[in-house]
Amino acid sequence: MIKKAIILCGGTGSRMYPLTYSINKQLLPLFDKPMFYYPLSLMMLCGVKDFIFIINKGQQEKFEKAIGDQRDLGIKIKFVVQDKPRGLADAFIITEKLIKDNSIAMILGDNFFFGNMLSPLIKESFNRSSGCNIYLYPSNKTSSYGVVEFDKKNKIKKIIEKPKKSNSKLIITGLYVFDKQVSSIAKKLKPSKRKELEIVDLINEYKKINKLKTIQLGRGSAWMDVGNFIDLQSTSNFIQNIEERQNYKIGCIEEIAFNNNWISKKNIENRVSFYSNTNYSKYLKSFISSK
Ligand code: DAU
Repeated sequence: MIKKAIILCGGTGSRMYPLTYSINKQLLPLFDKPMFYYPLSLMMLCGVKDFIFIINKGQQEKFEKAIGDQRDLGIKIKFVVQDKPRGLADAFIITEKLIKDNSIAMILGDNFFFGNMLSPLIKESFNRSSGCNIYLYPSNKTSSYGVVEFDKKNKIKKIIEKPKKSNSKLIITGLYVFDKQVSSIAKKLKPSKRKELEIVDLINEYKKINKLKTIQLGRGSAWMDVGNFIDLQSTSNFIQNIEERQNYKIGCIEEIAFNNNWISKKNIENRVSFYSNTNYSKYLKSFISSK
């Protein structure tokens, strides 16, 4: 059972300079919300209330402002500063004391997931997690991501970070579950050629001890890594398209918290004031009036 999640919101964001000189990438807008609302909302849909945000120095106040009063969302967020982007696996070293003896999920603050039955699939995997879970998605850009190669018997053969060539189409999305051993295993990793503690090296350690499980996200779901301006724009357009057609918001953290019975109508009213005179606050008003 997963009760806690890390949302990784550090890194240099160098592919988005000059914007990311002054602000963490995960605070940039994806259509009508800050980018980190989307991974946060997915974790909330999966029942997680307890969060660790890993951020860069000097960014905490900005995140706090963008999230508002956590009590109105029924969640708890602790901020941990990563002083240097030492790699994804470093997240489990700097949060060791907060993870304690629990299994933990980690989601990248720049990853967008969407799809029918996606959160039930992930939630179900959270309920019976042991060892490490990774979530795979078909992509034609394998050289940009971690990739899993399978043998003829469908057993995992290799896990490689950004291979130049691969015979697999299945990439590792930025969502992971690890058991309580994760920090001690992460501490034994050595930095890669690009001087980072690689998440694939950590995953490979779980593979060695036969504790790695893969979960494939269906082709009817959408996954996007918002790593550059083109992805930022195309993911924003995707969200706008769906929201305008359906008249439902994607990643509305208040709606999720209310449906989970974590907050009351009064909390939503507070959030209406927080969002002031925006389409988001109008959406929340019509949401509570329908309840
Ligand atoms: O998006 C999925 C991919 O994410 C995986 O397929 C890869 O296996 C994984 O290595 C990662 O690749 P990226 O090249 O996308 O990682 P990136 O350096 O962009 O970092 C991902 C997020 O984590 C980004 O929001 C910044 C944050 N980050 C990154 C580093 C290196 C940190 O918070 N701290 C760090 O030290």
